[in-house]
Amino acid sequence: MGLLNTAILISGEGTNMQALIDRCDEGKIAAKIAVVVANVTNAQGLKRAQTAGIPTTVIDHKKYPNRESFENEITDRLHAKKIEMVCLAGFMRLLTKNFVNQWYNRLINIHPSLLPAYKGLNTHQRALKDGVKFTGCTVHYVRPEMDTGPIIAQAVVPIFPDDNLETLSRRVLATEHRCYPLALQMIADGKVNILNDKVIIEGASFPRRELLNPSKGENKKNLVDKG
Ligand code: GAR
Repeated sequence: MGLLNTAILISGEGTNMQALIDRCDEGKIAAKIAVVVANVTNAQGLKRAQTAGIPTTVIDHKKYPNRESFENEITDRLHAKKIEMVCLAGFMRLLTKNFVNQWYNRLINIHPSLLPAYKGLNTHQRALKDGVKFTGCTVHYVRPEMDTGPIIAQAVVPIFPDDNLETLSRRVLATEHRCYPLALQMIADGKVNILNDKVIIEGASFPRRELLNPSKGENKKNLVDKG
C-alpha cells in the first residue's frame, strides 16, 4: 500500500504538525506530508516544516475578498499536490460548508478538549474556571458545524489543584502530540471506518493509553484525600 498523501494546515507554532512529520519520518505512519499550508505569513510552524524539508505555502486569508475565494485557493493547491488527506493542526480559520464538503471524510482536526465539551476558543481557561478534574484532546473528522464530527481518538488529561493556564496547556499539548499521530496512523492503515457518522476502528485493541481513561493506580496519589 502506498503512502497517504497528506497536507497539514497551520496558523501558528506547528508543534502538532511537527509531531506528525516526525512520526512519518520514523516510518510509524504510512503517510507522506506533501505540503504544509499556513494562512499566516509568519507562522512559526513554517520554519519547522522547512527545516524538515517539507514544501510550504502561505495563503494569506487577508488577501482574499471572501472565505470562498480563500478556500478555493487552498483546494486548488491541494489538488495540484494530489492530496488525499488534510490535517488541521492549530489552523485558526473557520472553514465553510463548501470546503468541508469538498474534503468530506478526508479532513481531520485536533481540538484541545474532550469534545463535545469546550468547543471553540480558550478551552483550558474555561476548564480551569469550571474546576473540572479532567480535560484532554480530541482528533475528529471535520463537519460544517464548529468542532463537531466523528471522533477518531481522545486522550484524557488530569487537571491538578495547582494547575494554571501554562501548566495545563503544556500537559494537554504533550498529549496532543501523541494522540494526533496515532489517529493519522490508524487512518493511513485503513483501520478507521465511519458508520452512521461515528468512527469504528477496525481491530482496535487499545494499544495505547490515550484511547482510555488513565488507570486508577496512576491517579491514586492525586485522588487520595490526605485530610
Ligand atoms: C493546539 O493546542 C490545537 O489543539 C489548538 O491549537 C493549538 C495549536 O498548537 N487548536 C485549536 O484550538 C483549534 N480549534 P500547535 O500550532 O503548536 O500545533
